[in-house]
Amino acid sequence: MVVYWIMKKFSIKTFGCQMNVHDSEKMAGILKASGMAQAEDQSDADIIIFNTCSIRQKAEQKFRSELGRIKSVKKKRPGVKIAVAGCIAQQRGAEIFKRAGHVDYVIGPQNIHLIGDMVKSEGVKKTALEDNPDIAGLELPALRGEKGRAWVSIMYGCNNFCSYCIVPYTRGREKSRASESILREIRGLAKDGFREVTLLGQNVNSFRSDTDFPELLHKINEIEGLKRIRFVTNHPRDLSDRLVEAMERLDKVCEHIHLPLQSGSTRILGLMNRGYAYGDYKEKIDKLRDRMPDISITSDIIAGFPTETDKDHGDTVKALGEIGFDGIFAFKFSPRPGTAASLMEGQLPEDLKAERLHEILRIQDGITLVKNKGLEGSIADVLVEGLSQTDGDRLTGRTRTNKIVNFKKDPGISAGSIIRVRILEAKKHSLKGEVV
Ligand code: 5AD
Ligand code: SF4
Repeated sequence: MVVYWIMKKFSIKTFGCQMNVHDSEKMAGILKASGMAQAEDQSDADIIIFNTCSIRQKAEQKFRSELGRIKSVKKKRPGVKIAVAGCIAQQRGAEIFKRAGHVDYVIGPQNIHLIGDMVKSEGVKKTALEDNPDIAGLELPALRGEKGRAWVSIMYGCNNFCSYCIVPYTRGREKSRASESILREIRGLAKDGFREVTLLGQNVNSFRSDTDFPELLHKINEIEGLKRIRFVTNHPRDLSDRLVEAMERLDKVCEHIHLPLQSGSTRILGLMNRGYAYGDYKEKIDKLRDRMPDISITSDIIAGFPTETDKDHGDTVKALGEIGFDGIFAFKFSPRPGTAASLMEGQLPEDLKAERLHEILRIQDGITLVKNKGLEGSIADVLVEGLSQTDGDRLTGRTRTNKIVNFKKDPGISAGSIIRVRILEAKKHSLKGEVV
């Protein structure tokens, strides 16, 4: 008798931050290791996973409409299993089954290691939402989606409880991985041809296991074959002189830091529970630039936090001018259920938040363009990521300062290689260059 065994296929759709992107790579790695294959397209997947984000309401809405759309897929192919993973899964839990009867599994970010067993369990609806303090001890196989550069988790969770943020509720308390486990993973990546790693954590500056973060960078810097080290995200309060020193000294650590300011008003920073005043932040920026004059600095800004006055908003606008970020991500304040800021008096109307957000973005666009223009004519090392998404005749990559550079396709240049590029023209969100 011939037994035909058909390999089950999975598809993962990811919403949100780098943490989620990498969690999806890990879930893919686990499913592959347990004998499944990645589907080319969601339409031929037996298991569809949504890795969700709840940082702002908009992210949540995007997922809601996907979940509605997938209902018809389940009607046509009742055998398809649907899993909701990520921060919405953690936050809403089994309530998701009530709202969306077509969902089979709900799995939180601290339990992704269970995804393999979960999708094999037939018939019953399942959740995996427990706190998992052991997460930092797990070594999960990741099926990485990119060539040349890789995400590496060095810590999980967050202890900060910024008053607007949902993350401490969905990802639990801070836990750092042992340095040897991280080094082993990165050595393996370098052997497999990865040139760049980005170390991931909600607040990498408070990484602490058998070593601290600057010491970890020193150790990673010694890994043969690796060319670039990046890390996200940083908390200004915890950015130490030793870290600045390590960034300056270590040749593989890139000249870029993402340092979320959130607001230029010290009063608002207090309400946000950020633990620093605007002046403290500015001092750190001065120190970074003093030691590394060409460092690129990016940030996050929230517009329209509860009680924010025109003066507070003005302080943020002033800060943008004073600091001169290379780029920012800016968002309208979004009240997240269960957070302190969602319950504060003085919530602002949507149109005021939108108006302030637009002003912030408009001012920053001007600053970014001037900064990028200053790079015209210079030569930069670019790590090639692949074809440009908007122009199939162009390749795209990043400088050490994390600027996107687009240039003409060349059959001799493949994703993962590092090449020299002359910057020809600056645009708002990217640079145009030519290979030299
Ligand atoms: N509303 C708006 N922006 C938020 N962020 C986090 N929580 C919220 C919220 N409730 C932003 C912060 C953070 C980035 C990842 O998302 O700026 O740094
Ligand atoms: Fe959220 Fe603040 Fe933690 Fe960042 S540091 S994840 S903003 S609580």
